[in-house]
Amino acid sequence: MSRIELDRVGVRAATPGGPVPEVTVLRETTLDLTEQRIALIGPNGSGKSTLARLVNGLVEPTSGRVLVDGLDVAKKGREVRRRVGFVFTDPSAQLVMPTVVEDVALSLRHQVRAREARTAAARAVLASYGLDELADRSVHTLSGGQRQLLALAGVLATDPAVLVADEPTTLLDLRNARMIGDLLFGLPQQLVLATHDLDLALRCDRALLIDDGAVVADGAPAEVVARYRATVG
Ligand SMILES: Nc1ncnc2c1ncn2[C@@H]1O[C@H](COP(=O)(O)OP(=O)(O)O)[C@@H](O)[C@H]1O
Ligand SMILES: [Mg+2]
Repeated sequence: MSRIELDRVGVRAATPGGPVPEVTVLRETTLDLTEQRIALIGPNGSGKSTLARLVNGLVEPTSGRVLVDGLDVAKKGREVRRRVGFVFTDPSAQLVMPTVVEDVALSLRHQVRAREARTAAARAVLASYGLDELADRSVHTLSGGQRQLLALAGVLATDPAVLVADEPTTLLDLRNARMIGDLLFGLPQQLVLATHDLDLALRCDRALLIDDGAVVADGAPAEVVARYRATVG
């Protein structure tokens, strides 16, 4: 497994024109994450996405450092992003090419330089996820479940050591949420999973409860989930 370290990381954001010039998005946080599957749970606006995004540099710390296998995300962003794949809640955020096969080929641009070989590799990836029949379709014609599966296939095609997934099942119906959840939990990769699906959180090795920009509970998922449920009443 990789080692994800937050060393006294704080995140503040400017609020131009707001009543206060800066808001604290994440209070000073120190973490050492080495477990295979780590859940981030907590209410809307608590800071889950911020924490998830710090791991691959989509959000930069205002103070402190984030390290992935000793690499400082702020200094070695490109190297870190080759190790850390990121899946968004809304797959449309990362599906940018006109067709399904072109989208996977785009993910493979660093791995396979020659164009024809890249298209062939992309088709093989699609086949391994049962998406080969959709290869030449526009991504806009896919269902939500197919789109999230495609987004995941594109990220996994680059064989990242760590997968960060920010509420990857929130927009999906029950069947598709289960399909994506089972896929995530069948992966050999390290997984950092922000989720409101507490059943998925319970399947992780460690859970962090985030509230108001701070980690307020950290440990065995059964205990952390119970803590979260107790705060809601
Ligand atoms: N760039 C930003 N500017 C201002 N506020 C932000 C910014 N990023 C996040 N926030 C605020 O910080 C809080 C935490 O956001 P987020 O990490 O997206 O929470 P979550 O994913 O748990 O819903 C929210 O109140 C959000 O509005
Ligand atoms: Mg979020």
